Amino acid sequence: MTNLLQDAYQRTLAYQQSLQSRPVFPSPEALAGMTAFDEAMPPTSQSPHETLALLDKYGSPATVANTGSRYFGFVTGGMLPITHASNWLATTWDQNGALFLTSPIVAKLETIAIQWLCDLFQFPTQTVGAFVSGATMANFTALAAARHMLLKRAGWDVESDGLFGAPEIKVIVGDEVHISVLKALGMLGFGRKRLVRVPVDEQGRMLPDQLPPLDSMTLICIQSGNVNSGSFDPARIICEKAHEAGAWVHVDGAFGLWALASDQLAPLGDGINLADSWTTDAHKWLNVPYDSGIVFCKHPEALLGAMSTNAAYLTASQNRDSANFVPEFSRCARAVDVWAALRTLGKVGIQQLVDENCACARIFADGVRDAGFFVLNDVVLNQVVVAFGDDTTTQKVIDAIQADGTMWAGRTVWRGRVAMRISVSSWATTREDVVICLEAIIRVAKKTIDE
Ligand SMILES: Cc1ncc(COP(=O)(O)O)c(C=O)c1O
Repeated sequence: MTNLLQDAYQRTLAYQQSLQSRPVFPSPEALAGMTAFDEAMPPTSQSPHETLALLDKYGSPATVANTGSRYFGFVTGGMLPITHASNWLATTWDQNGALFLTSPIVAKLETIAIQWLCDLFQFPTQTVGAFVSGATMANFTALAAARHMLLKRAGWDVESDGLFGAPEIKVIVGDEVHISVLKALGMLGFGRKRLVRVPVDEQGRMLPDQLPPLDSMTLICIQSGNVNSGSFDPARIICEKAHEAGAWVHVDGAFGLWALASDQLAPLGDGINLADSWTTDAHKWLNVPYDSGIVFCKHPEALLGAMSTNAAYLTASQNRDSANFVPEFSRCARAVDVWAALRTLGKVGIQQLVDENCACARIFADGVRDAGFFVLNDVVLNQVVVAFGDDTTTQKVIDAIQADGTMWAGRTVWRGRVAMRISVSSWATTREDVVICLEAIIRVAKKTIDE
């Protein structure tokens, strides 16, 4: 057993050392190498060393190097060294984070990490929170809490009586709502077609004067951090209007919520803490390993009302039983890495991480503009949306940049135009990386356009 872990450790070090010299997306040879796994399930036991060796030989090269410093795809954080280490230790513990009785230490670290985060984001004191797999599930969980509370106020117990015949909830989203919110609303029976969509401005921000009439049966979903532009819906004015009417406001802050940790960026999120529920991801900007999303709710009774159960075999505990806050029972110990990241970085460290990524995004934007290309968004956060010409040209350049392998950024469509989206979200990205990547972008783009 020890030898096997030592073997894994050596392979881990070698993998990390390879990150800077390998293509960010796997090479065609590496992808072809995955056929090594196309074997029948062995009828007899195999050597674990051989299994690990196979995994490393053909598996490691076929990974996307998102723990390296030059991955800018989607909105993907890297992995802080402390969270890599804490994750190893927690894997060794193999805790079930469902209940205090299945893991006192996970229950303890969840309580502490949620408290620290509520302080960091300046959420109201009664706010509760919990760990889920990502922002999609955090949105689902928060919106289930909203559904519980709004219907309860109307005298309807949705968990017992379901949605057939229930009073109607008006759900409002911005035209730039993230698809994960639509997915969550669909799963919760709100119906994606029944939503009221509010127009947005040129940065994707909801226009508050276009809100329909609000009342106490209204649920408004706003976002802090548009997945393309990084822009924020105007939280203060929306929350004030909503609360005058008794409506519920949910904030999808999958990555944007972390801007609140920065003195410089916090004004973007002015009024976020007036909302009723919030979503964020730790696997994005906090740079903990996958998967790690967090839900917060200002109304403990709403979250518990939607998520708690009373199975007879669960011994009532004075301590935290996480299963009462989230959709799952058995679950991994996500709080360990979040606690480790928060404790190691401290508030200043989080602020530096966020500020430095945003500074790198601005350098990217200046660099591509100076080279004659087009930045399509106001670079207010860590997101840069770039076009290299018309849609066909931009697509060709994105394909060529991805094939070049120096860096990886994905394709998006922003306000009707095909664009490359650079999301700077990793602790590992340095300004030297940005210089190297800009050189690659400009070199590849010019060559592709000239061809
Ligand atoms: C604003 C927003 N919400 C939700 C999500 C979904 O996050 P996850 O993949 O962690 O579920 C994302 C992912 O990029 C996002 O940017």
